[in-house]
Amino acid sequence: MARILITSALPYINGIKHLGNLVGSQLPSDAYARYMRARGHEVMFICATDEHGTPAELAAAKAGVPVADFCTDMWQVQKDIAEGFRLSFDYFGRSSSSRNRDLTQHLAAALGKNGLIEEVSEKQIYSKADGRYLPDRYIEGTCPDCGSENARGDQCENCTKQLDPTDLINPRSAISGSTDLEVRKTKHLYLKQSAMRDKLDKWIDSQVGWPVLTTSIAKKWLHDGDGLRDRGITRDLDWGVPVQFEGAPWQGMEGKVFYVWFDAPIEYIAATAEWADANGADDSAWERWWREDKGADDVHYVQFMGKDNVPFHTLSFPATLMGSNEPWKLVDFIKSYNWLTYEGGKFSTSAGRGIFMDQALEIMPSDYWRWWLLSNAPESSDSNFTWESFQAGINKDLADVLGNFVSRVTKFCRGKFGEQVPEGGSYGPAEAAVSAEIAKRLTAYQNNMEKIELRKAAADLRAIWVAGNEYLQAAAPWSVYKENPEDAAAIVRFALNLVRLYGVLSGPFIPDAAHSILQSVNATDARWPDDLDAALLALPAGHGFTTPDVLFAKISDERRDELEAQFAGD
Ligand code: 2FM
Ligand code: ZN
Repeated sequence: MARILITSALPYINGIKHLGNLVGSQLPSDAYARYMRARGHEVMFICATDEHGTPAELAAAKAGVPVADFCTDMWQVQKDIAEGFRLSFDYFGRSSSSRNRDLTQHLAAALGKNGLIEEVSEKQIYSKADGRYLPDRYIEGTCPDCGSENARGDQCENCTKQLDPTDLINPRSAISGSTDLEVRKTKHLYLKQSAMRDKLDKWIDSQVGWPVLTTSIAKKWLHDGDGLRDRGITRDLDWGVPVQFEGAPWQGMEGKVFYVWFDAPIEYIAATAEWADANGADDSAWERWWREDKGADDVHYVQFMGKDNVPFHTLSFPATLMGSNEPWKLVDFIKSYNWLTYEGGKFSTSAGRGIFMDQALEIMPSDYWRWWLLSNAPESSDSNFTWESFQAGINKDLADVLGNFVSRVTKFCRGKFGEQVPEGGSYGPAEAAVSAEIAKRLTAYQNNMEKIELRKAAADLRAIWVAGNEYLQAAAPWSVYKENPEDAAAIVRFALNLVRLYGVLSGPFIPDAAHSILQSVNATDARWPDDLDAALLALPAGHGFTTPDVLFAKISDERRDELEAQFAGD
């Protein structure tokens, strides 16, 4: 049994996320966590809201509520939605927690004591119209690199370049739109990432099997030097982790907070501590996941994120942990995702284009979304959501293949033999052939889950469902029954065992349906089929079941068109 630490990128608190955000971190990490638990490993699966910085302040200002209250409300909203999608976090924390404040300050102090923090008198943009400094997202303008006119003060979303507000061409205030800006001097702390270039380079080179998307982004930042320039880690804001604290190795930083990207990844650790606190456990309970001197040396740590987050996770966060000279657990595998587009274009919050997580749950069961999103995950390139493709995925894969199989087997059995596994007859070459086919597909499924190739794993799972359907179609117990009820009984017994197997194997992708299937066949043992032959004998003759209700309702063309119109945006 291994110990696996899994973190999903933390969603910003500023609003409800769309399906592209969901498929880029939380959903695949959940499927992986569920799979690893099912294989008997000890899993710690962590997520939290990313509450600091300008996105939170701007959203709270727009909503007209104090930022702390806004965050408390939105954390609950995001937590409820996560539960709606059956995201099985062991803990869903908050980056505004006292645990994160303490850890962030602790790590910053350690970096300072190790000579990795520099006090810099910096030029910063001050807006006379707004009467304040404009950090990060409070300022927008043209990207010096790609020319996008909507780059923000911290990053250009178009080309992923990390920016400082003074890099922007034609800057304007994101609050008032004012261009009456002036540059003033103020003191900030810089993390000397460049001093850690060799260490980071060696660390990244030592990683084997990282996805190309992850390493290519990391290498680009390392080797063009830009990602590793020393970066300001403090901001002139009220909301965040205070930079001036007792024991801080610097003075005169009152009124400043740490940059949101400095404290957010630290929340992965802090949320695990919040989990320990919530469970009345002591520090050793979370330290065994995060401190190599306290048992974390045998932990395998996997992070999930969208590709825009990769520079922060391959460079800045490891620099923070390494630079502390303390034995923190570093990530072992970074799974990053491309973008999901919506009907060929971008999801747009402002234009109401695309589907947001709360809306999705209002119109369809979570399994439908999970299945489509995971089986079309943007793993090797961007993926495009269309209502037509969604309809096909649900109707063909879930309803026609899996749902139809479960329904035909259970209904036929109920009609001819009653609601219990029938006895009589014996298995022959057809059962041996489908077992062999499933064994082959199962090996592929497991390999792809281990490698976190979820799109391929979904195809393997579907192939396992198809194998059962084709077997049933060819074995045709409804015809055999007329001549030889005993032979029909053997077919049905075998097929009912396949139903149970599908309940076990489908859990990582469609947990609700998997649960209903296992319940309907009264599966007391839902362990992973390490021995497939034994698993296919798990339900003996005489074992009772209940015929399940329709597992998946089909989406009609009319409904599809209606939804397409509803979400088309302005
Ligand atoms: O891009 C985002 O949505 C960020 N809130 C991700 C943060 S991940 C982590 F480092 F906290
Ligand atoms: Zn750009």
